[in-house]
Amino acid sequence: MSYSRAKSDHLFETAVSLIPGGVNSPVRAFKSVGGKPVFFAEASGVKVKDIDGNEYTDFCLSWGPLILGHSQPDVVKAVCEAAPKGLTYGACHPGEVAMAQALVDRFPGMDMARLMSSGTEAVMTAIRLARGATHRSLIVKFEGGYHGHFDSLLVKAGSGLITLADPGGEASSAGVPSELAHLTITLPFNDLAAVESLFAEHGSKIAAIILEPMPANNGLLLQTNEFLAGLRRITHEHGALLIFDEVISGFRLHCGGYGELAGVQSDLVTLGKIVGGGMPLGALLGSAKLLNLLAPMGPVYQAGTLSGNPISIAAGLATMQKLSDPHTYRRLEQLGGYLEHRLRETGIPWLRGCRKGSIFWPYFDEGVIPTRADQISQKAVQRFNAMYNQMLEQGFYLPPSAYEVLFLSTAHREADIDALVGAWARAAANIL
Ligand SMILES: Cc1ncc(COP(=O)(O)O)c(C=O)c1O
Repeated sequence: MSYSRAKSDHLFETAVSLIPGGVNSPVRAFKSVGGKPVFFAEASGVKVKDIDGNEYTDFCLSWGPLILGHSQPDVVKAVCEAAPKGLTYGACHPGEVAMAQALVDRFPGMDMARLMSSGTEAVMTAIRLARGATHRSLIVKFEGGYHGHFDSLLVKAGSGLITLADPGGEASSAGVPSELAHLTITLPFNDLAAVESLFAEHGSKIAAIILEPMPANNGLLLQTNEFLAGLRRITHEHGALLIFDEVISGFRLHCGGYGELAGVQSDLVTLGKIVGGGMPLGALLGSAKLLNLLAPMGPVYQAGTLSGNPISIAAGLATMQKLSDPHTYRRLEQLGGYLEHRLRETGIPWLRGCRKGSIFWPYFDEGVIPTRADQISQKAVQRFNAMYNQMLEQGFYLPPSAYEVLFLSTAHREADIDALVGAWARAAANIL
């Protein structure tokens, strides 16, 4: 039977009349790869089925939360046991304390956790808290760093701005007032000298540096531990906070954070994705001194009707339980290594990428793998895009953007990777 998405295409026409762009998050819209989004009907393990009955092996996995694959039985069981006891209380319950304990146990140096419903909320709270704690306004982020759709971080700025008296940035979304955008400074990754010179001039006004210690949502722009340690030193010297946004990296490489692996202690950690095991959950971790500045203990306001939702916590704790088995991460590393090995075996020099554990960024070009956003070659982007729809037709659901990473899960098998690499190699032959 030939591949058809007639039902998906038809439903998309209705969707665009009811939902902006037909999607509830822009990156789902297939804008950069071309074509129309696929409507999913069901998923299990690494397989997703669309409403036309096509089956795909999923390497997007809801953008990272599903480290155990879709509908992992123990996670589903935990959700099913929790649901009849109440979908939300809007009040205290034991699961919140168990989750907070599990998080502080797994993130050394963190005394407390505040639970919320998304990664964006966690980051937004971290920024407000950093400003409230330091009584300073400026925030430093890095080019290409996405930290959720929060006004202060929807900003990009040229590195030339470092030398300006008013170092402010340029909003990357309409609706972000320039007065606010000007409080966010954007620097290139992997350039400690730029950070030093910014702090030399404006250090007393900077509340915090925020970054993903393993930047993974504009390509996989791996930074050295020395760079991260340098940020720690500079922020200490100037009384600013260091925030590690671990929404992707939290629980991805071990049952804890990336900061611990890098040997760098941040002041605050933000979590999302895996922490909720596929259900909406975000968390902010920090010292008691910092977190007690949050309401009701302190002057920094944060709240949420569904915060600490019992179903999300049940899914998150069940996921963490599985991840506590060290074999899980050995297996994920093995799968990641196997993917690289199979790509090398194709003999196509540009069919390669950058990997850390179970995260793989397809970077379809030769030369040095980028560590900064401006080093990403257009050729790599064009090749990924040109192959995307062929990959779909061959039964592979990949993140629909060349700048996004693939996620492996414990539900993937070597055969899934063989099939993926085979399909990429065939698609590569068509675009050589
Ligand atoms: C590093 C990082 N921080 C924050 C967010 C925002 O998380 P959420 O989409 O749960 O609001 C994302 C989302 O992809 C992310 O990758």
